[in-house]
Amino acid sequence: MNIVVVGGNGLVGRNVVRRLRGKGHEVAAASRATGVDIVTGKGLAQVLEGAEVVVDVSNSPVLVGEAPCDFFKAAIANLLEAEAAAGVQHHVSLSVVGTERLGDSPYFRGKAFQEQRIRESGLPFTVLHATQFFEFLLDIVEVSVYDQALRLAPAYIQPVASADVAACLAELAVRPPRNGVIEMAGPERERMSEIIQRFLTQIEAPYDVVADPLAPYFGARLASDSLLPGTDAHLCAMDFDGWIEQSEYWGASW
Ligand SMILES: NC(=O)c1ccc[n+]([C@@H]2O[C@H](COP(=O)([O-])OP(=O)(O)OC[C@H]3O[C@@H](n4cnc5c(N)ncnc54)[C@H](OP(=O)(O)O)[C@@H]3O)[C@@H](O)[C@H]2O)c1
Repeated sequence: MNIVVVGGNGLVGRNVVRRLRGKGHEVAAASRATGVDIVTGKGLAQVLEGAEVVVDVSNSPVLVGEAPCDFFKAAIANLLEAEAAAGVQHHVSLSVVGTERLGDSPYFRGKAFQEQRIRESGLPFTVLHATQFFEFLLDIVEVSVYDQALRLAPAYIQPVASADVAACLAELAVRPPRNGVIEMAGPERERMSEIIQRFLTQIEAPYDVVADPLAPYFGARLASDSLLPGTDAHLCAMDFDGWIEQSEYWGASW
C-alpha cells in the first residue's frame, strides 16, 4: 500500500514507518524535516499524491499554554482538506485515552477538536486512543517540577510502551477503517505520583514528589480515573520494570 506517516520522524512515527516498510509498503515520512508543514499546508499536496492511507502521529512542538490547541486546529483542517483532494481512503490518527474528559487543558481541547473534525470529515477513519507512554514520564517531570519538587495529582495512570502503540498503528493502517475509536493501555495502573517517584528513583533525580489532588495535568484537573481506559481496551504486556530495563536509563551512571 502507499502510506504517508505524518510526524514520521517522531517517537511513534519513526517506529511506524520502520514497521510498515518492513512489511513491504511504500511509506513516506512527512514532517517539517522532510519539507511538509501541516500548520501552513506547505508540501502536503505533493506528499499525498497517490497516498491510500494517512497515519497522523504528529504532535505540537509546544505542549503547554494555548499553542497545542492552535497547532491541532490548524493542522487537522489542512490535513483533511489535502487528504480529500488526494483521494485518501483511510485516515488513522493517534490520540490520548481520556481526551474527552480533559477539556480544561488546551492540549486536550486541541486533540478533541482534531477527533471531532475527523469524525465530521466523511473520510473513513480509525482513531487509536493510547494511554501515556512510558517515554512520556520524563515530559511529565519536566512540566511539573518547581523548586526541586513535583506536585502531581494522585490520579491513576496505566502507561504503555510507545513501541507497542506503533505496532498497533502499523496493523490498523493496513486494515479496513473502524470509523470509531479503539483504546490501548499498558498492563498496570498506578497513581501518577507513585510511578513518577519510581521513575525518579530509577534515574536518580533529586526531586521530591508531592501528591496534590489540585495539581493540574497540562492544565486539566484530574479525577482519579480521568486517564484510565475503559474495560474494552486492548492491554499490552510491557510493564514499567520491563520497559525501564530495555530503556536508555538502564545502567546509566548519572
Ligand atoms: N506522549 C504520550 O504519552 C502520548 C500518549 C498517547 C497519544 N499520544 C499522541 O501521540 C502522537 C505522537 O506523539 P510523539 O511523542 O510520537 O510525538 P513527537 O515525538 O513529538 O513527534 C512529533 C512529530 O510531529 C512532527 N511535526 C511537528 N510539527 C509539525 C508540523 N508543523 N508539520 C509537520 N510535522 C510536524 C515532528 O517532526 P518535525 O519536527 O520534523 O516537523 C515529529 O515528527 C501525538 O499526537 C500525541 O497526542 C501521545
